[in-house]
Amino acid sequence: MTEESEEIAPPEVHHYSDIGEVPWDIQNYWSQRHRIFSKYEEGIWLTDDAWFGVTPEPVANKIAEHISTSTPKDKVVLIDAFAGAGGNSIAFAKSGRWKRVYAIEKDPAVLACAKHNAKIYGVQSKITWFEGDCFEILKTHLKDLGFYSVVFASPPWGGPGYRSDEVFNLQTMEPYSLGHLYREYSAFSKHIVLYLPRTSDLRQLAKLVGDGNHVIVEHYCIEGASKAICAYYGDFKLTLSD
Ligand SMILES: C[S@@+](CC[C@H](N)C(=O)[O-])C[C@H]1O[C@@H](n2cnc3c(N)ncnc32)[C@H](O)[C@@H]1O
Repeated sequence: MTEESEEIAPPEVHHYSDIGEVPWDIQNYWSQRHRIFSKYEEGIWLTDDAWFGVTPEPVANKIAEHISTSTPKDKVVLIDAFAGAGGNSIAFAKSGRWKRVYAIEKDPAVLACAKHNAKIYGVQSKITWFEGDCFEILKTHLKDLGFYSVVFASPPWGGPGYRSDEVFNLQTMEPYSLGHLYREYSAFSKHIVLYLPRTSDLRQLAKLVGDGNHVIVEHYCIEGASKAICAYYGDFKLTLSD
């Protein structure tokens, strides 16, 4: 099989280059395509669903910088548990901080996008890809890497109220509640970063922390508005000047 033929997009995958082709519910995202991926015109791939969840490049870069500079030096592996179309994985790989970036995605068409997009950014060789369920893969293929790893997770924000509620209930988030995510990841690593809605209930985030410990919550903004937060659990040395 040639390199060319491997690059044939699965049927769910598109590179829209004209607004006339774009489904109406994605048009708003498509109009921001160059902010989402600065190299969009080089042939970025997305499934229609992936548009809703992808982390815009400036936010992904800032998160990658924060995690790179604040993580203890003996953590040399970054695991992106919900890789999606690659927004965060690409930024982690570009940072050059990690011996290896492991990226897990259960939807094969979305994973094809992430691999293709990583190639466009020239970081494909720095990422090891897994197609499957992140909770399983942490317990099997990656089970020996926990001590050396930071787990970054940008889960789906499904369930009631993400857009409508003033305070987003992380325990009814679907398909994975905050409790489920934290239990699974903290059994694997002591360094966890969760990318969550800006309206997330901070009391629920704090409840997971043992006495005398802390969780750091950072807002990531675009044009003066918070896009999302990251909750940092573990020994991260984030400083205010970052
Ligand atoms: C919000 S998106 C991630 C977006 C990604 N950060 C980006 O910038 O492109 C969440 C992704 O998690 C995937 N997913 C859901 N459950 C999963 C699981 N158990 N294991 C791995 N991936 C999963 C979904 O298919 C979806 O692509």
